[in-house]
Amino acid sequence: MILYFSGTGNSLAIARKIAETIDDQVMPLNDAVLQDLTREKRIGFVFPTYDFNMPPAVRNLIPRLKINTASYVFAVTTCGAQAGNSLWTLRRLLRKKGIELAYAHKIRVPDNSAIAFGRNPNEQVWKFDKFANRLEQILDDIKAEQHEMHFAWWGPIGGLMGCSFLENGMLRTFHPVVNEDKCTGCGTCARICPMNNITLNAKAAIGDNCTICLGCVHVCPHQAIRINGREALKERQYRHPDIKLKDLIKR
Ligand SMILES: Cc1cc2nc3c(=O)[nH]c(=O)nc-3n(C[C@H](O)[C@H](O)[C@H](O)COP(=O)(O)O)c2cc1C
Ligand code: SF4
Ligand code: SF4
Repeated sequence: MILYFSGTGNSLAIARKIAETIDDQVMPLNDAVLQDLTREKRIGFVFPTYDFNMPPAVRNLIPRLKINTASYVFAVTTCGAQAGNSLWTLRRLLRKKGIELAYAHKIRVPDNSAIAFGRNPNEQVWKFDKFANRLEQILDDIKAEQHEMHFAWWGPIGGLMGCSFLENGMLRTFHPVVNEDKCTGCGTCARICPMNNITLNAKAAIGDNCTICLGCVHVCPHQAIRINGREALKERQYRHPDIKLKDLIKR
């Protein structure tokens, strides 16, 4: 079983490719904590890197999973450039459960947070071609149940970058804000939010349980959700090209 977390589809697309390669299935991590996965011979994790670490929400889900210690466990993190400590963090959290991460790698994809800095993630789709070989290698390795850890030790720098002080700052800075003048109350954002953190009355309201996946910012058909004080311009809204809106909804 391949467990994933995804705001804009990069991680879901990779999870699906792995599932296709090893003839397995994908499941959102939020659903996985409600299941008994102890009979699964293989468990994969695919999730984005945020702030050089695992997304806070994903970190909180790992301790709740029911997994067999004898399973072949692998992980892939999607990131714009640097995965920092994210795969180390997963290894540490799994070890606390008596589970050894057998294989881990990162893959570079368009950085969906570019929209928060006034840049366009769609201008980074060249990464799909540039890192296609890396993805093929990852798929082959996982199929062969390789035991290899492909990540650099970021040590104190990674620790500093992922410290709670900076992380809380990031969560505050990137907190999405609804522009009520533009919001039509269509509900698209609420349907895709992986944290169930958006409520709808006449307008969308974003709660306090945001893990800043930026999914809502990227999907709003009226560009009514601001990020880091910036309007989400339509041309800067991003979703992995293989992932449809409905793929992000049913989870
Ligand atoms: C809040 C936030 C922080 C991010 N931090 C990093 C980072 O530290 N390093 C990096 O390479 N990419 C970073 N990214 C980019 C994402 O890891 C990347 O776009 C990922 O593939 C998104 O996955 P998804 O489409 O499955 O949601 C960040 C994205 C967000 C939204
Ligand atoms: S997707 Fe946009 S327009 Fe629709 S409810 Fe959410 S913020 Fe409002
Ligand atoms: S409120 Fe928006 S950014 Fe926050 S978790 Fe939900 S979809 Fe992601």
